[in-house]
Amino acid sequence: MFEKVSLILPYVAASIVYHSGKTGGECMSTSQLNQGLAKRLEAAASAIEPLSRRYGPLAPDVGTAWNTVLAGLLAHRSIRAYRPDRLPEGALEAIIAAAQSASSSSNLQTWSVVVVEDEARKARLSQFAGGQAHIRQAPLFLVFLSDLSRAQRLAHEAGRPLEGLRFLETFLVSVIDAALAAQNAVVALESLGLGAVYIGAVRNKPNEVARELGLPPHVAPLFGLCIGYPDPAAATAVKPRLPQQVVVHRETYQLRSRDEDIAAYDEVLRQFQISQRLPPSGWIEALLKRLGSIQALNGRDQLQAQLRAFGYALE
Ligand SMILES: Cc1cc2nc3c(=O)[nH]c(=O)nc-3n(C[C@H](O)[C@H](O)[C@H](O)COP(=O)(O)O)c2cc1C
Repeated sequence: MFEKVSLILPYVAASIVYHSGKTGGECMSTSQLNQGLAKRLEAAASAIEPLSRRYGPLAPDVGTAWNTVLAGLLAHRSIRAYRPDRLPEGALEAIIAAAQSASSSSNLQTWSVVVVEDEARKARLSQFAGGQAHIRQAPLFLVFLSDLSRAQRLAHEAGRPLEGLRFLETFLVSVIDAALAAQNAVVALESLGLGAVYIGAVRNKPNEVARELGLPPHVAPLFGLCIGYPDPAAATAVKPRLPQQVVVHRETYQLRSRDEDIAAYDEVLRQFQISQRLPPSGWIEALLKRLGSIQALNGRDQLQAQLRAFGYALE
């Protein structure tokens, strides 16, 4: 860690001198310079550990670009074991306010969410989603929906056409809107000390989920979100991600010739799995298994037909 701090030290010092010259025109005193330097060094130092957790030995250098929001984002981990206590008053409303603050394509707001707290309903939804126990255990389960029914109803009432409704594009708009909203919700709830895990498995049996939630036509379940306080007895770790050079392309897409970064990540993830007492497979094997067979889709290969039955023509 000290090695890294000393590496960025000249950059930090130069940046302070540069900014002091730009803003005031006057020279900074030595004590001001030291204070500024100390602050920036502190910021740079506090970034190192979270970045190492997220990337292992392949962590990028963020210099002094660091703050508490970034710290919160990089500390994300899915939570699959919860304390039984309910959320404090106002928490759900705050989380939804954060969700609704996400951008929305043309501000159409083509998503909705069903809040489920009823134990029996959570148990049934858990069954539809491959029996995942955390759906039953979490005090709160949200189901995010693509919702074109509002637009459909308004058009019907106004006697206006709604030609856009039947296109794949409009469905995609609703999925993107819902995903952005949900991720805002996750960031918000994590900032309140809560934890969550997404549940894509609500698409395993969308008909059953739709019936359970009383969904009208032109509404489809997209994914669930278990929410609650993390059970401290089942501590989880931050899961490493691909190195930045694998997912970032500068100016134009670079077809990769070297795959050693992916191989290195594969090993980082294998070690992570071992450290978490999970099956010791790497990332490549998990990817190939998840996308390798129709069975691994757990019924989601039927999704297009089911969406059509919900009223999405997907043209
Ligand atoms: C859209 C979506 C659907 C997911 N569905 C499930 C699920 O059904 N069950 C589950 O345990 N985790 C699910 N996850 C969680 C991922 O497995 C998890 O985010 C991933 O392994 C990375 O781990 P992390 O969130 O701890 O960083 C889902 C995540 C996303 C984004």
